[in-house]
Amino acid sequence: MSGAKTKPRELRAQRRTGRRCWDHLVVAPLWVAYDANLGTLLRTCDAVGACLAVPRTSHYRTALAKGDTLGRRRPCIHWVTPTKEAWLARQRESGKRLVAVELADGATPLTRLEPAREPTVLLLGHEHQGVPDDVLVEVDECVEIPMIGQGASLNVAVAGSLVAYRLAGLS
Ligand SMILES: C[S@@+](CC[C@H](N)C(=O)[O-])C[C@H]1O[C@@H](n2cnc3c(N)ncnc32)[C@H](O)[C@@H]1O
Repeated sequence: MSGAKTKPRELRAQRRTGRRCWDHLVVAPLWVAYDANLGTLLRTCDAVGACLAVPRTSHYRTALAKGDTLGRRRPCIHWVTPTKEAWLARQRESGKRLVAVELADGATPLTRLEPAREPTVLLLGHEHQGVPDDVLVEVDECVEIPMIGQGASLNVAVAGSLVAYRLAGLS
């Protein structure tokens, strides 16, 4: 790159919009357990202009407090209450599209996923058990990230970030 004079810190400041809640793309790691994954997803939400939705429990509050490296600039957090099931039903009733990130028959490969044109909730599964089967049968779309390596799956924060970038229209 020639002639690039603006420093990364200045670019970051210029690109900050100050907008906190677009409510267009909501990343919902409702079954994700590990602090590091939740912290990583929080940063991805900030980067792509998404909100994060997590259950209102001490586990998630503590995990996000530990993983929050953004401080006052962190993205909007939607608390999932009173239960995951009731919250998901509310999202559906309000017209949001439910998209699960999971390895599943008939899933859309990431390479064919279109940017979200309507309000969308992105569901991510537990590090060991994945997205529950009864939730998978109810979603509008399931997205799978093709893999050619020896591992059975990706880290959930990596998988969620790849799909969030795509749905946000940034990759
Ligand atoms: C480590 S995986 C869970 C694997 C679990 N052992 C299973 O078989 O269901 C954790 C989560 O990451 C996401 N994930 C990981 N790799 C993925 C892939 N290649 N495509 C889609 N989602 C993936 C899914 O949300 C999944 O629920």
